[in-house]
Amino acid sequence: MNKPRARNLLSAFCLLASLFTVACVNSPIIGIIGEAVMLPCPCMSPINPDLLYLYWQIQETVVDAFIKGEASRSHQDKMYHNRTKLFVRENSTCSLLLSQLSVKDEKTYECLHGSPDIKKNYVSLLVAANYTSPVLQVPSEQPRGRYTCTATGGFPEATIHWLLDNQPLLWDPEPQQSVLDESTGRYNVTSTLAANISQDSTLTCIVENKRLHVNLSQTLNSPSTQDTPQNHIVIPVVVVLLLFIS
Ligand SMILES: *[C@@H]1O[C@H](CO)[C@@H](O)[C@H](O)[C@H]1NC(C)=O
Ligand SMILES: *[C@@H]1O[C@H](CO)[C@@H](O)[C@H](O)[C@H]1NC(C)=O
Ligand SMILES: *[C@@H]1O[C@H](CO)[C@@H](O)[C@H](O)[C@H]1NC(C)=O
Ligand SMILES: *[C@@H]1O[C@H](CO)[C@@H](O)[C@H](O)[C@H]1NC(C)=O
Ligand SMILES: *[C@@H]1O[C@H](CO)[C@@H](O)[C@H](O)[C@H]1NC(C)=O
Ligand SMILES: *[C@@H]1O[C@H](CO)[C@@H](O)[C@H](O)[C@H]1NC(C)=O
Repeated sequence: MNKPRARNLLSAFCLLASLFTVACVNSPIIGIIGEAVMLPCPCMSPINPDLLYLYWQIQETVVDAFIKGEASRSHQDKMYHNRTKLFVRENSTCSLLLSQLSVKDEKTYECLHGSPDIKKNYVSLLVAANYTSPVLQVPSEQPRGRYTCTATGGFPEATIHWLLDNQPLLWDPEPQQSVLDESTGRYNVTSTLAANISQDSTLTCIVENKRLHVNLSQTLNSPSTQDTPQNHIVIPVVVVLLLFIS
């Protein structure tokens, strides 16, 4: 409830600020790794594209530009080649579409626009990636031993929580292992819990991605009853076969 309100207040402030040509930083935009994100920058409307001067940059690095009616890519940094799109003519906006996001795109972008007075907006971008559904592994000697919960391919680093019968645990898991995959820029996270979980308890692990406000969970119901029924069926069949063979 608080966040949208804060955002509205901030937007109202930015609108007010823009009337006085004051630079303003909006709340961060969250983009998904591998996907595209629109970095918003409203230009004064109506705009005349033939007179407009538009520069998207990060300090001295040019991300994209549109100068007096033409896309201007000659100074574009090669990191942004083929990854940007402007919509000046189509939509009368100075917003920038940035695609194939990676962790390296977490920056504060400047949108400089105007004709002839130049205004400046700042947009800060954070990236995120959803984790895979967590995998809960049980110890070989149930019910006592090390239970592990693993989720892979997410960003930023997640926090793993454990619940026993939907209550926080009374004992601590081992320190969480987080591995950054250098090639993808994503994390794999693992938490290990040494415990003796009784048959009628329910163990849950939750992987929390705070930036996406996503909790992924995996539940283990009555751990030691899951395998036993199968064993009861398999063993007599084997015994019968052995009897026949002998
Ligand atoms: C951009 O696309 C063109 C043609 O599609 C390609 O030749 C060029 O290598 C690409 N550049 C980058 C940096 O990916
Ligand atoms: C451009 O405007 C149209 C109609 O208002 C809208 O459907 C479309 O999503 C807009 N595109 C961008 C890139 O803003
Ligand atoms: C994240 O992944 C889970 C399943 O793995 C899916 O249910 C959920 O909708 C995804 N959330 C987002 C924000 O992509
Ligand atoms: C992360 O997990 C994925 C999927 O299990 C695996 O392919 C990858 O090698 C792991 N990365 C690291 C750095 O451990
Ligand atoms: C696990 O806990 C139960 C009681 O909750 C106890 O009876 C049992 O001996 C424990 N098992 C081990 C291997 O510690
Ligand atoms: C995710 O789980 C944690 C721990 O149980 C909780 O504190 C947090 O509020 C949950 N977040 C969401 C978005 O459900």
